[in-house]
Amino acid sequence: MTLSIRPIDPVSRPFFAGEVSGIDITRPLTSDQASSIEKGMDQYGVLVFHGQHFDDETQLRYSRNFGALEEASGDLNWGKPRRIESALVNDISNLDIDNQVLARDDRKRLFSLGNRLWHSDSSFKEVPAKFSLLSARSIPSAGGNTEFADMRAGYDSLDDETKAEIEDLVCEHSQLYSRALLGFADFTEEDRIRLKPVLQRLVRRHPSTGRKSLYLASHAGAIVGWPVPEARALLRDLIEHATQRQFVYAHEWKQWDLVMWDNRATMHRARPFDPKQVRDMHRTTVGCERSTMAEAA
Ligand code: OGA
Ligand code: MN
Repeated sequence: MTLSIRPIDPVSRPFFAGEVSGIDITRPLTSDQASSIEKGMDQYGVLVFHGQHFDDETQLRYSRNFGALEEASGDLNWGKPRRIESALVNDISNLDIDNQVLARDDRKRLFSLGNRLWHSDSSFKEVPAKFSLLSARSIPSAGGNTEFADMRAGYDSLDDETKAEIEDLVCEHSQLYSRALLGFADFTEEDRIRLKPVLQRLVRRHPSTGRKSLYLASHAGAIVGWPVPEARALLRDLIEHATQRQFVYAHEWKQWDLVMWDNRATMHRARPFDPKQVRDMHRTTVGCERSTMAEAA
């Protein structure tokens, strides 16, 4: 088997979203294989692998090829028993601890609907996510796509005036902002302290490719030094610009797909599906090395 990567849509998006074949990533990789995949990530931002029968242990091993893993602390389950044993595996499912589908009005489910808004993983953490790796263990019979937007293309296609205006802006990111957009406010005082906003640059330069991208997410609710309504209006305009259809790849899941994306160069969002059906995805997350504030401009 030889590893090869081809663009999923060579005509409209030749440099965004690649499909990888010729490799079983559930088995240990050679360092050449790992660096080919990392290079593919630099080029495509999103890589799709089919037929990868991961369990949590093999997914963790594969993910560690790309850096140190983040703790799965992006939900409201702090300190409570979890359905998934490893604290490094995010439970991106609609299941409770007994593997039963959550009720429509379950707090965990309603909080997780925040994934339906465009975002970049862990932008609400001081040191945010580098790569996310999502493994489809069980999927619904229809719907439940994940969409990805190319934030490098989003940046490149801005006019020069806007580029100059936003170059040095710093945003405040918190899950409180993204959940407020959906009218979710079921937070304890402890939650609110934990979800205190963090600062992130709005324009990032990719450490390997040197390309600039818009670093946006629905978690961004303020710009330092700006009146809040004006900041939110700009952020909304930028998200609208960056998520125009020509910049978006919509992934239709098959069971045992593994999709990995670079959160420094993309945004993503979940799409709806029948809430009575099971959708069970497990996500591992590689952290960035430093906060965006400490990155070179
Ligand atoms: C995630 C995420 C989207 C989806 O796992 O970080 O946003 O479609 N998932 O489940
Ligand atoms: Mn996400």
